[in-house]
Amino acid sequence: MTKQNFATKNIFKTEMLLAVCIFLLIPVEVSATCVVNAGVIDCTGGTLGTTIVTNATFDNYPPNVTAIHLSNNDIEYISSNTFDKFYNLLDLNISHNNITYLEPNVLEYKRKLETFDASFNKIEKLPNNLFRDTFSLINIDLKVNNIRDIEPNVFHKNLINLQNVNLSNNSLTYFEPWPYIPEVPYNDHIDLIFDLRNNLIFSFKNSMNWTYNLREPYEYQVYLQNNNITKYKDDMILQYHPGYTGDVLTEFLTYYINFTGNPVICDCEVYNLVSRLHNSFFLYLRVDSYRYRCGSPSHLASQDFFHNIELSEFVCNKTDKCPPGCVCQERPHINAMVVNCTGTGLTTLPEELPEERFGRIHLHLDNNNIQHFTRKNYTSKIVNLTISNNKLSYFSSDARTSMKNLAYLDISGNSLSFVPKEMQSMSFDKTIVTGNPFQCDCNMTWMKEWINVSPGATDRDIECNFDGKYKKIRDITRELLLCTFEGIAIGLSIGLGSLLAVVIGVAITAKRCPYETKVLVFRFFGIHPRDKYKVDTDTNKEHDVYISFDIEDIQVRQWVKTVFLKKLEEESKRKYKIFCPGRDGSVGDDEATDLITNMNKSRRIVILLSPGYFEQQMRIFESDQAEVEHNATGDANCRVIYLLWNYRMKKNLEQEPWKSRAEGKRILCPDDKFFWHKMRYELPFKTV
Ligand SMILES: *[C@@H]1O[C@H](CO)[C@@H](O)[C@H](O)[C@H]1NC(C)=O
Ligand SMILES: *[C@@H]1O[C@H](CO)[C@@H](O)[C@H](O)[C@H]1NC(C)=O
Ligand SMILES: *[C@@H]1O[C@H](CO)[C@@H](O)[C@H](O)[C@H]1NC(C)=O
Ligand SMILES: *[C@@H]1O[C@H](CO)[C@@H](O)[C@H](O)[C@H]1NC(C)=O
Ligand SMILES: *[C@@H]1O[C@H](CO)[C@@H](O)[C@H](O)[C@H]1NC(C)=O
Ligand SMILES: *[C@@H]1O[C@H](CO)[C@@H](O)[C@H](O)[C@H]1NC(C)=O
Ligand SMILES: *[C@@H]1O[C@H](CO)[C@@H](O)[C@H](O)[C@H]1NC(C)=O
Ligand SMILES: *[C@@H]1O[C@H](CO)[C@@H](O)[C@H](O)[C@H]1NC(C)=O
Ligand SMILES: *[C@@H]1O[C@H](CO)[C@@H](O)[C@H](O)[C@H]1NC(C)=O
Ligand SMILES: *[C@@H]1O[C@H](CO)[C@@H](O)[C@H](O)[C@H]1NC(C)=O
Ligand SMILES: *[C@@H]1O[C@H](CO)[C@@H](O)[C@H](O)[C@H]1NC(C)=O
Ligand SMILES: *[C@@H]1O[C@H](CO)[C@@H](O)[C@H](O)[C@H]1NC(C)=O
Repeated sequence: MTKQNFATKNIFKTEMLLAVCIFLLIPVEVSATCVVNAGVIDCTGGTLGTTIVTNATFDNYPPNVTAIHLSNNDIEYISSNTFDKFYNLLDLNISHNNITYLEPNVLEYKRKLETFDASFNKIEKLPNNLFRDTFSLINIDLKVNNIRDIEPNVFHKNLINLQNVNLSNNSLTYFEPWPYIPEVPYNDHIDLIFDLRNNLIFSFKNSMNWTYNLREPYEYQVYLQNNNITKYKDDMILQYHPGYTGDVLTEFLTYYINFTGNPVICDCEVYNLVSRLHNSFFLYLRVDSYRYRCGSPSHLASQDFFHNIELSEFVCNKTDKCPPGCVCQERPHINAMVVNCTGTGLTTLPEELPEERFGRIHLHLDNNNIQHFTRKNYTSKIVNLTISNNKLSYFSSDARTSMKNLAYLDISGNSLSFVPKEMQSMSFDKTIVTGNPFQCDCNMTWMKEWINVSPGATDRDIECNFDGKYKKIRDITRELLLCTFEGIAIGLSIGLGSLLAVVIGVAITAKRCPYETKVLVFRFFGIHPRDKYKVDTDTNKEHDVYISFDIEDIQVRQWVKTVFLKKLEEESKRKYKIFCPGRDGSVGDDEATDLITNMNKSRRIVILLSPGYFEQQMRIFESDQAEVEHNATGDANCRVIYLLWNYRMKKNLEQEPWKSRAEGKRILCPDDKFFWHKMRYELPFKTV
């Protein structure tokens, strides 16, 4: 038998064996028929003839080859022992197959391997230790697979020869600092190109706990083009550099990441990076290389956010806790959150506003129907407040005091008859107060000084109503307004017979001077400034007064019966109709309903706060209801007046809900000077 025959016979035998194996459906473990040439085992183009590759496949091939090419077969699985004997392997090409899974040990001991091409497969994951021994790897090509997951130890510091890693066209959804981990020489002038294009990356993670150690001359390029990065946050890169406080742009550039072609949301998060760029010479450097375009919002889409968008456009909409209809935006450009509720039909101040990081709020409430400006838990953060064209009749001094950083205020076009003195902590030219029906009152003489120290202000000529005539506020004086209480009192005690001038002065002063003066003028001349409330002209009301008091307290009950009711129902010129629960109301099941009905028929509700009042369920109910009535529809409903049993009751008004309720309401005490005059002054001028 010749050598030739022997060989043929062997091949024949092998084929027989193969046939038998296939026939018996034994796992296909066969030796391949590939071309061995110049140290290369070439099994490309379907010549391998098997879908499962093991060490048996290459049983008959010499171990000293340097390359194995297996591309374009239908390989589904490569056993971890397959390349065991090929210690000299430099180049392994398993591309264009149907591999879904790589064994962690498949490249074990391949210390010389320089090129690994597994592109165009269906690999889903790169397992830990895959490249554990392959210190010589230069090129890794894994493009066009289904890689979703790369375990933390795949790219490790000993891969010091890496130059190209191609992971493009996979299914990765996250980025890890893989490119920065291999300790490639940093001054060999060769860039490590780490290509992650065309994945679905949207988050940046650090499960391998890498910390920033990059240094010049930064020799890597990271391609992140065409991924799904929507949110840019400084934290994405700063998470790798805990404690870094330097310039984010400089830091960002050292990563040599290219993420053009991502649908970046151009919001407040991008501001920081872009504003740094605007302040650096990079703005004009390699402009075309840094054409990063917005994916959204729609009005900025596909604009170059590094170069073509105004910094003021980078805002974040805050929706959580933003009052309905309003727009709440974080605007890093002005270092504040801007809340714009212009023309949203508000009748009261928003109770709360979104959380924000600046501690500075611009609040715009123009063109609404707000009546009272009181303190809220966000007022202290307001730096710019515009509340023009509302129905503001009251601006609490407490609220003003809490706005320590207020820099701009517009309260024009409201119904304010005065502004609190606390306004003067901000200069007049930062305040717009025009279009309010200011009454020339002793309380506003401070405004003269306030206006006069802002000589440049445009609204210096604002006026107040002085008995139907208008006076420039900066011209008024206390003397002009006869603001000293003693003067008035003396004038009154002298009576009508005294100097005509004093009398005239008193009459003129009636509308503008302190409360006591008005009360006394009312007492002596029967002049009431005006019918203050719409409810007073409502002819459907049956009672002038509804009195709520602690019926259980015998002293209080006695006082109401023998003093209060007597004085107002019998002893005065005006005989008021008073509804007194306990006397006029029903008791039992429909007590509550009865109270509400009668309250609703009253023009005033007098709440007499005595020590036991707060313990009575029915009284609490009554006072809650009174508050509802008072606030219901402006001044067309019952108005509440508080009476304090004695001055010690003031303490009870320091706690909520009484504190807010008492704000802006008349509070009287029987121990007051001129108490009965005041009481009558507060009650409707024309009784029912
Ligand atoms: C591999 O070994 C065979 C003999 O076993 C020898 O003929 C061949 O030249 C060697 N090839 C290389 C590339 O070393
Ligand atoms: C294949 O590898 C296994 C161990 O994984 C070994 O037991 C077996 O002998 C090897 N077969 C060949 C043909 O080298
Ligand atoms: C890859 O395997 C799938 C089944 O997993 C098969 O449908 C497909 O035809 C295979 N593709 C190739 C190129 O062999
Ligand atoms: C691997 O094989 C494919 C198909 O033959 C070829 O296109 C590719 O260039 C090879 N990879 C390398 C790194 O040579
Ligand atoms: C990274 O740190 C976390 C928590 O500190 C730890 O659970 C994790 O195992 C670390 N990962 C690695 C790869 O060391
Ligand atoms: C892109 O990422 C977002 C989450 O940020 C996700 O909702 C969306 O489905 C992703 N798009 C694609 C095409 O995967
Ligand atoms: C980033 O990639 C785009 C194309 O994808 C290219 O035009 C641009 O020059 C690259 N920029 C840098 C800084 O490499
Ligand atoms: C914020 O809201 C405004 C108004 O509703 C809208 O025009 C803008 O596109 C939004 N901006 C972002 C970044 O969502
Ligand atoms: C508030 O929104 C209105 C339109 O709703 C707009 O005219 C106005 O300019 C906005 N004000 C600010 C300060 O953004
Ligand atoms: C402000 O008050 C609202 C309710 O009145 C509350 O939900 C919110 O937590 C408060 N915010 C702060 C910062 O206290
Ligand atoms: C406050 O907001 C108004 C309206 O947007 C604006 O005209 C004014 O300049 C702002 N003032 C400050 C100090 O920001
Ligand atoms: C007017 O001033 C007096 C004391 O000067 C004060 O008690 C009173 O509350 C003020 N009234 C208003 C409406 O500010």
